[in-house]
This record gives sequence, structure tokens and C-alpha cells, in this order.
Amino acid sequence: MSGTVGYLVCVVASLLLVTQIYHSDAQNSQVTFTTSTNVIETGVTPSLTLNCSFPPQSPVGYRVISMSIRRVGENSPLTQIATVDAYGHFTALSGINYTVLNGHVNSTQGSYIRLGWLHPGTSMAGTYICSANVIDQLNNIYLFQLNKTVTTATTTTNTGTTTAAGVSDLMQRIAELETALNSLKIVAADQLKLLESTLAQKTAKANNLEAALFKKSAYNGHQYYLSLYEPHSAADAEMACESLDGYLAEVDTQEEFSFLKSFIGTPIADSIEFLLGGTDERQEGHWINRHSGGVLGYVEWSSGEPSNSEHNGIRENCQTVALLHAALKMSDSLCFKPTPLGGWYFICESPVVA
Ligand SMILES: *[C@@H]1O[C@H](CO)[C@@H](O)[C@H](O)[C@H]1NC(C)=O
Ligand SMILES: *[C@@H]1O[C@H](CO)[C@@H](O)[C@H](O)[C@H]1NC(C)=O
Ligand SMILES: *[C@@H]1O[C@H](CO)[C@@H](O)[C@H](O)[C@H]1NC(C)=O
Ligand SMILES: *[C@@H]1O[C@H](CO)[C@@H](O)[C@H](O)[C@H]1NC(C)=O
Repeated sequence: MSGTVGYLVCVVASLLLVTQIYHSDAQNSQVTFTTSTNVIETGVTPSLTLNCSFPPQSPVGYRVISMSIRRVGENSPLTQIATVDAYGHFTALSGINYTVLNGHVNSTQGSYIRLGWLHPGTSMAGTYICSANVIDQLNNIYLFQLNKTVTTATTTTNTGTTTAAGVSDLMQRIAELETALNSLKIVAADQLKLLESTLAQKTAKANNLEAALFKKSAYNGHQYYLSLYEPHSAADAEMACESLDGYLAEVDTQEEFSFLKSFIGTPIADSIEFLLGGTDERQEGHWINRHSGGVLGYVEWSSGEPSNSEHNGIRENCQTVALLHAALKMSDSLCFKPTPLGGWYFICESPVVA
């Protein structure tokens, strides 16, 4: 859960870094905003309707994220009246008997919010702000706004509704937060798409790198990787195998060994070695597989091998397959080869067939 929150924080933080938010002035505002009347006379004005719209394809290529209508009254704070977003979420202030109530975001067809109600009271007076949040191809966010002021013809104030108004303000604040959250979800979805495409690119690169470093072949439900480069330490080879979801190949049967020999093909020179998973590092002469821990399932040592030969005081404790006496057979070799001795190739085995 904290991962998700962290991700959202990152998304929002990166969004703040890469985007510019432009506010429109009344002159260049793209939104059209009409109200059925500019004055409310309580008990006289039959209805109030609001029509806030954003034209289709204007400017071309811009996407509408959300639209909203808010109101600032003489004695009331900024209140969300209605919002609609690109996901089709439409919310409107509750507790009103609307006669018109709809909204839609579609950059091709045009976007709008339309609201209306009968017998508006003085609490409906104030400055209505119609806004459209729009995003361009560069992720710049534009806020297009237009205001309409509706005044009231009476000066009566109702002092008996403080508590109800407080609750209603709270509900409106919640509605605003919900709207903000919905906008964030849209932004997060956009960022997720970006991350997915970045991930796809990275995966493609990783696959290219894998193809440059390993030859692949499958046998008996396992994937085998033959390195095309020669590291100098068994630990490095083991780590490379782990990154392929595998381990240094463990020969269990004669058939598996035959497969490995044909996978290797014909090495170009005598004594070219391919590291396998067996080792007698822990106990001389007691050969076990370093990954699964069991004794070697099948061995086909070359004559005179394993020799446990010594090189500058270091003994041979790692299993290889090598071209010895014109045949690919098993042998032992150093587990760490100092540079002058050259490295060995290695073979990984993975239960995950890629
Ligand atoms: C619209 O009204 C709001 C709130 O009173 C104000 O902050 C904003 O500057 C106004 N915008 C225009 C374009 O008049
Ligand atoms: C709302 O305004 C738009 C843009 O001015 C207009 O095309 C549309 O007909 C209006 N709708 C209503 C119901 O008044
Ligand atoms: C909305 O309409 C219903 C039924 O017509 C009525 O009972 C209710 O009091 C009205 N509410 C408001 C806030 O006008
Ligand atoms: C937007 O309008 C276009 C053109 O009418 C339509 O093809 C498309 O499906 C609409 N998109 C949504 C999300 O409603």
C-alpha cells in the first residue's frame, strides 16, 4: 500500500517538474459560459440554468481532462457545483432539485456541463466560474476559465441555516476533494502509460543484451544459456545465471549431457572450458551441485579427471565440460581464474522457458 502512495507522490512530483500550467484570461478563454439570468429575485425568478462548454478540437490536438462549475458567493466560500472528467465521472452538488443536469467530456465532440434548477434562492447568487482543464501533447496543462456573476435583487439573509450551511460546505469540500482525486487518477493513468512504454523499451534492450551475451536452447522443459563471453570467477557466472532466473547447469542424466554437448557444438580449440554447476570446494573429492546441493546426477569425467591440479597454490574445485583428447568430457578447473589464465565460458539452466 505504501508503495502505491509513494508511486502517486512520485507521479505528482514529476508532473509538477515537467508540466507548465497556463491560465487563460477572459479574452482568450476558449470556454463559453451562459446563464439564463443575471439577477435572482427570490420567488419571482422561475429558474436558473447554466451552460458551460468547451468547443470541439480547439485548439486541435488538445485533450480536455475535466470541466467544472464553481461558485463564490458574497458570504460563501468557493464551492464546487458540478464536475465532469474524461472518464465520464459526473458529480453535482447534492440537495438541489435539478431540472437540467448533464455533462460530458469529449475532445472531438466538444465538452460541456449544463445545470438548471427551479426557483433559485439568494444562496444561488454569486460569481460562477466555468473552467476547463486541458492538456496538450507536451503535457502542458491549460486552465481556461470564464466567470458569470448572478446578483440577487433582495437583501434578505437567512440567519437560521448556519448549521445546515456548515454541513453543506463540508459536503462541498468533500466533493471538491473527490474531483481533485479524480483528476489525479487521470494524471496517474497517463504517467502509468508512459512508464509502461519505458518498461517495454527497457525490456527490448535487455533482450538485445541477452542475445548478445548468450546463446539459448531448450531441453526437457528447461531453458539453457551458453555464455558468449568468459568471466573469471564462478561467482560472476552464478550471478549472471541468477539474472536469467537460473543457476549454473546441473547435469542429471546422460541424455542431458548429450544435449549440452550438442548445444556447445564444436569448440574451436582444445581445452576451451564451459563451467557447470558442480563443485568440491567444501570437501575435496565430494562433488555436489552448488545450487541444489545434491551429489552430481551424472558424470562423464575425461581420463585423469578430476585432477585437483594446483595453480600457484590454488586447487581445481569447479566442474567444467571441455574439449579434452578430442572429446567433450567433464573436468575440474579453478573456481577463480586470474586474468593471465583467461576465463571459461559457462552454461546456465533455468526452469523458466523464455
Ligand atoms: C473569476 O472569479 C474568480 C473568483 O472570484 C477570480 O479569482 C478570477 O480571477 C475570475 N476570473 C476572471 C477571468 O474574471
Ligand atoms: C450551450 O452552449 C453551447 C455553446 O454556446 C451551445 O452550442 C448549446 O446549444 C448550449 N446549450 C443549451 C442547452 O443552451
Ligand atoms: C425536491 O423535490 C421533492 C419532490 O418534488 C421535494 O419533496 C423536495 O422537498 C425538493 N427539495 C428541494 C431541496 O427543493
Ligand atoms: C467522442 O466522440 C467521438 C466522435 O463522435 C466518438 O467517436 C468517440 O467514441 C467519443 N469518445 C468518448 C470517450 O465518448
